[in-house]
Amino acid sequence: MPYIDPPLFVRFIAFLLLSAFNLWSWTHLRDVIDVASGVKRRLAAVGFLLMFLPSSIVLLPTHSSVVWIDAQALVWLLLAWNVFLLVLLFTFRKKKLVHVGASESAKTEADIDLRRRGLLRASAVGIPILTLNKSIGDLSHTDDYEVVYKTVSIRRLADKLKGLRIAMIADIHSGPFMSKTDIDPYIGRINSLQPDLILLPGDFVQSRNEEVDPLCESIRGLRAPYGIYGCTGNHEYIADVEYISREIQNAGVTMLRNEHRVLDIHGEKLALIGLDDIRAGHPFHSSFRHAVRGLDPSLPNITMCHKPYYFEEASEYDLDLVVSGHTHGGQIVLARVFNIVITPAALLSGYVEGLYRLDRAQMYVTRGIGMSGLPIRLNCPPEITVLTLE
Ligand SMILES: [Fe+2]
Repeated sequence: MPYIDPPLFVRFIAFLLLSAFNLWSWTHLRDVIDVASGVKRRLAAVGFLLMFLPSSIVLLPTHSSVVWIDAQALVWLLLAWNVFLLVLLFTFRKKKLVHVGASESAKTEADIDLRRRGLLRASAVGIPILTLNKSIGDLSHTDDYEVVYKTVSIRRLADKLKGLRIAMIADIHSGPFMSKTDIDPYIGRINSLQPDLILLPGDFVQSRNEEVDPLCESIRGLRAPYGIYGCTGNHEYIADVEYISREIQNAGVTMLRNEHRVLDIHGEKLALIGLDDIRAGHPFHSSFRHAVRGLDPSLPNITMCHKPYYFEEASEYDLDLVVSGHTHGGQIVLARVFNIVITPAALLSGYVEGLYRLDRAQMYVTRGIGMSGLPIRLNCPPEITVLTLE
């Protein structure tokens, strides 16, 4: 699935749908809020105009100088805005219903259980806020992450390479919601796991060049005898991808940008391929062919590709293992039913987290450690992955 801006007519339809929802919310809010006074009427009119601002953003192309947030962030922001409207509507409606019920039954003020009414109102507003606060609070505790161990069978793997341990974190998103203090515990934990190799498949920063500085201070401390390798993610392109890649390389991470390395481990060979983030104008096949030029196809191989959306294409090359991130495991997960993750991110792709197989190819999608769009991870803990080859 190429990562491109939707055409204008699609964005226009999205605008109409969002505006229709906002209009519906406003008319219902207007019904339940007493707007008899002039001040309230004016406030309601301002609210009406403001409602259309978020939905108007979808008309603008993302990655432009006007819209500084990426499409994924935009989806979350619009979702949050509409959920906020629903909570507001529900809260005022509850208030109105309690009030009407009291007058119709001609109850005196003393007859109305004011404490119960207050509790209802507090619940309507408080529960969503508490849930949000808890989620945001959870984020500050980086010890809430999960170390996920997975054994992956690789064809043609030499006996000497069996048991090789690869640690991986993706989607660090160094920036406003991921400081050096947040990153350091992950670095310490990875080192304590004593991996043979470390992979960092993209989204090192959120959106700005200076965000790479604290990250580099942290990742300089990573240790693995067979090296630390990375590839670019889409967020490196929101900042200056050349600058970010160079800084990370200087911090001791070998950035594979549509290129490969053949590792010599215990005298046996393992090919490591890294792809730049697949973007409009740079299809998977051309990036991949460039990356494997001169590589012996019979070698066992691992490919870093930030987005997991190209697994079908990757499977055409019988790749042993593709490692990806990008999805953040959905970041906000409503429920898990067996292996199915119910999250809005599943609307974009069926590859959300975990190990996938297609013909002879395999792909592991890590949940990553950072956040994009909303600073919330719900029911979706950050992940350090440890892959053991066999
Ligand atoms: Fe990401």
